[in-house]
Amino acid sequence: MARSRAQDALKQTDVLIIGAGGAGLRAAIELHDNGINVLIVGKSKRKDAHTVMAAGGINAALGTMDPEDNWRIHAADTLREGQMINDPELVMGLCKNAPSAIKELEKWGIQFHREPDGRLTQRFFGAHTYRRTCFYGDETGKEIIRVLNKEVEARKIPMLSEMYITCLLKKNKRVIGALGIDANNDLCVFAAKAVVLATGGHSRCYSMSTSRFFENTGDGIALGFEAGATLMDMEMVQFHPTGMVWPKNMEGTLVSEAVRGEGGKLFNAKNERFMKHYDPERMELGPRDKVARAVIAEILAGRGTRHNGVWLDITHRPASYLKARLFGVYERYKKLGIDITKERMEVAPTAHYSMGGIRVNPKNFSTGVPGLFAIGEITGGVHGGNRLGGNSLAEILVYGRLIGKVIANTVKKQKQPQLAKEGINLHQQEIVGLLAKNKGKNPVEFKKSIQHMMWENAGVFRDIKRLNKGLTFLTRARKDLEKVRAGKDVREYLDSRALLVACEAILRSALMRKESRAAHFRTDYPKRNDAVWKVNIVCKKVNRQMKLAKVRIKPVPKALRAILQKKFKPIHHLLE
Ligand code: FUM
Repeated sequence: MARSRAQDALKQTDVLIIGAGGAGLRAAIELHDNGINVLIVGKSKRKDAHTVMAAGGINAALGTMDPEDNWRIHAADTLREGQMINDPELVMGLCKNAPSAIKELEKWGIQFHREPDGRLTQRFFGAHTYRRTCFYGDETGKEIIRVLNKEVEARKIPMLSEMYITCLLKKNKRVIGALGIDANNDLCVFAAKAVVLATGGHSRCYSMSTSRFFENTGDGIALGFEAGATLMDMEMVQFHPTGMVWPKNMEGTLVSEAVRGEGGKLFNAKNERFMKHYDPERMELGPRDKVARAVIAEILAGRGTRHNGVWLDITHRPASYLKARLFGVYERYKKLGIDITKERMEVAPTAHYSMGGIRVNPKNFSTGVPGLFAIGEITGGVHGGNRLGGNSLAEILVYGRLIGKVIANTVKKQKQPQLAKEGINLHQQEIVGLLAKNKGKNPVEFKKSIQHMMWENAGVFRDIKRLNKGLTFLTRARKDLEKVRAGKDVREYLDSRALLVACEAILRSALMRKESRAAHFRTDYPKRNDAVWKVNIVCKKVNRQMKLAKVRIKPVPKALRAILQKKFKPIHHLLE
């Protein structure tokens, strides 16, 4: 039945955007405004893509609070905390254009927090030299998604929600469309002159994550990899220092960095403000990798709380201040019977963001596979080894707009591709087979077992033994997948299949990088080693196998080199 309905569901468009988060929506708006037909397909429910979970804010060197700030200092902060393996061209493009992305949001009616005189309020986020994070409480992503969806609707841009893309379709090495299943598990076929992967990251490779169970499972990574795209920096997974540890069903949920940006302090179970031992200058506003390691180190040293966390305390701020600036976390805890204006929060690290992803050409976000582009968290290169909080929302808007312009120019000259029936039939048969596979191991439990393995073996602290153990697990899991049922749980099955690709890339890259840099910490190689490892690690499918290689980093332009050497006076004491 599913197969015959697929014929009715053939959709043709100029550009197919896979992913309905901020990156996909912003790209779609630009394409539409350049006269291009575009179709957005998203895995989540309508208006509920992962961007809604982005909390504390969006960066732009506007200098509304600290007039000394400028885009070059923002770029230098981004490179320094990415520990110099970022693509400098992408970093400069991001920081230069972030202010105009904010202006555009204002034009579209976003509600940002403002000072009494009308200026945009900008708050501190970790490892920034100045206050440059604009925000709407701690629900900034949700507000951005509201505004972008309003613009998409005003333009009548078509969008299909709960559409799970199962594979990309190729002809003569060119990506010409995709196959997916809708909410009813009916097959849909898409034909397009260009396909954009805007599917988000893969932090759900881990059991403890700020992503919900169904999102950021690496499905975009797997689609791109299988189609021939190159992955980079896959070992660089960001662990956010403050995820909830209790109650159990909320484990991993983000407690925004905005809490620390507004003055929140971390204490161990002995009531010691422990960050003074790890980053005495920046304290709680050090880079995420450093703060996350400090929290784990305290727990491992036996100074953790009852639920294996540390305390995050913001009770010194007036209740009215917190309710205005941190209403999300305030309300969430209130529902659990905890008043954060009077009580402390128990927190620990949680997988939050993927710095690594598909390698793109920084000029046009092409992937090296003709017809295939990528944008947003699925790409690597912008953030290097560690992302500054607040940079991802800026990235999806800045580069969503850019990719829209670039692809519009490309597809205007192209003809609509003809889909090859035989190729489609093969993929359709596979999905029809999976939908009929009603017996076998539980796919939810299977998916959880992979995530648990990754937390145990490729988490905040890594070593050769654990990484190899992870790879052995994956070899077995690949065989076990055959015994996993799909049927009505086909999405869980497909998520698991995608996780196997993303996890393998993480484990292999982490094994290869024999040093500690940014988010990647090897206890058996605890030092950073620029002489050997100031490189990107890339992986690609060659003869059905994942092949890894080192790639040299592009030099940082002279103007930024000077700023990188300058020591800025930390102004975090303003928070005390
Ligand atoms: O903690 C946060 O609010 C996260 C923000 C980000 O990752 O950019």
